[in-house]
Amino acid sequence: MSWTATIITLFPEMFPGPLGQSLAGRALESGTWNCDVRDLRAFGLGRHNAVDDTPFGGGAGMVMRADVVDTALESVSRQDGAPCVYLTPRGRPLAQADIRRYAAGPGVTLLCGRYEGVDERVLEARAIEQVSIGDYVLSGGETAALVLLDACVRLLPGVMGSAESGVEESFSDGLLEYPHYTRPAEWQGRSVPDVLLSGNHAAIARWRREQSERVTRERRPDLWAAHLSHSSRPSVQEGQSL
Ligand code: ADE
Repeated sequence: MSWTATIITLFPEMFPGPLGQSLAGRALESGTWNCDVRDLRAFGLGRHNAVDDTPFGGGAGMVMRADVVDTALESVSRQDGAPCVYLTPRGRPLAQADIRRYAAGPGVTLLCGRYEGVDERVLEARAIEQVSIGDYVLSGGETAALVLLDACVRLLPGVMGSAESGVEESFSDGLLEYPHYTRPAEWQGRSVPDVLLSGNHAAIARWRREQSERVTRERRPDLWAAHLSHSSRPSVQEGQSL
């Protein structure tokens, strides 16, 4: 059985979208993963297949009905251990550790919200994980679902070209990645750091580690603090300053 993304959405045409191209597209064609899209409208009520209603307590917009969402989720064959994830700016931040967990399992069921969101009761009743891809508001969960799936699919066995490219990348050890360079060695008066042309693999590894630590410290003090509190290994910089 291939890794299955089951997507519940009011806009089924948005899938696989960009994931039909390149690495993910080839993996989809070869059956490494499977994109099972369900149109939430098909589970709507009455003549107009209503999926939403006005919010109790008043206020702007509409809320997706718990009963409609529940019926749609009930229609999804229960894959063993496949988590159900609701994409929402109210969710906890999505991290690479979540992606690794999703990719290691049988797949994910993704619930894409529109309007003001989904009635909280169905999220509670089904213990749905609520996840945000960042502190900004998208017009719906679909583009967030595409982001989550892109990150999962590239980790599936056989999808990425080189085995290393999955290990030595940003977040794999809680640090951002070091900078990359290629030919020409001199470009518009800018040269590549000498160490990268030295052939000294130990020196290169050390330089890359220093760069990773510098970039993380400068750009992501939150990641840097977490890295320092988790890692037993002293950083290159700390090592030098001792
Ligand atoms: N839906 C709307 N905005 C979102 C976000 N930032 N993350 C996940 N889902 C969303």
